[in-house]
Amino acid sequence: MQQTEWIRSLRAVRQFSDREIPSEVLRDILDTGRWTGSSKNTQPWDLVVVRNRDTLRALSKCGAFAGHIAGAALGIALVMHGDDAWTCMDEGRLMQNLMLAAWAHGVGTCIGSIYPADNEQRARDLLGIPKNRYLRTVLSVGYPTGPEALRLPPNAPVPRGRRPLEDVVNWDRLGNRNP
Ligand SMILES: Cc1cc2nc3c(=O)[nH]c(=O)nc-3n(C[C@H](O)[C@H](O)[C@H](O)COP(=O)(O)O)c2cc1C
Repeated sequence: MQQTEWIRSLRAVRQFSDREIPSEVLRDILDTGRWTGSSKNTQPWDLVVVRNRDTLRALSKCGAFAGHIAGAALGIALVMHGDDAWTCMDEGRLMQNLMLAAWAHGVGTCIGSIYPADNEQRARDLLGIPKNRYLRTVLSVGYPTGPEALRLPPNAPVPRGRRPLEDVVNWDRLGNRNP
């Protein structure tokens, strides 16, 4: 139960301190990402670690809700080898593993979605990504400023918490809520 409680504690962090991420911590985060399972073990990804502040600022303008990238210690761009449903699932698993690996070191992360197409193109140009690769996600990575960074501000446009378990889980047939 301790491990599952820890998994549940993962929150999106959008406010980052100036504290640098030690290179061994970063390497461990990236290596844990590398070990993510993928469809047919194709590992259809490359990671671009972005440290340049100007590039982070420019990337933060490549998505309607990507502003947090500007203040992150670094960004990790998930460059995918396809955009079919399987590859999108692989991307989700990779993203979550990177986020959990960072969290294990006390490092916060937040997904920055790169869209629409013209923004994706600008981000591709910034990172040197060719036409046969896809970029939907840049993860912001950095130590949280403090406990407040784990909470959404009162005016946030997304709901807090999660739907109740009983609302999410069905038994034997969709719609049957009685275990
Ligand atoms: C596919 C996907 C895209 C997301 N894109 C963004 C984004 O562009 N900007 C952002 O601030 N958060 C983004 N998020 C983070 C969600 O807002 C966050 O997971 C959700 O609000 C739950 O936050 P919590 O885990 O801190 O409770 C994204 C999450 C997912 C799974």
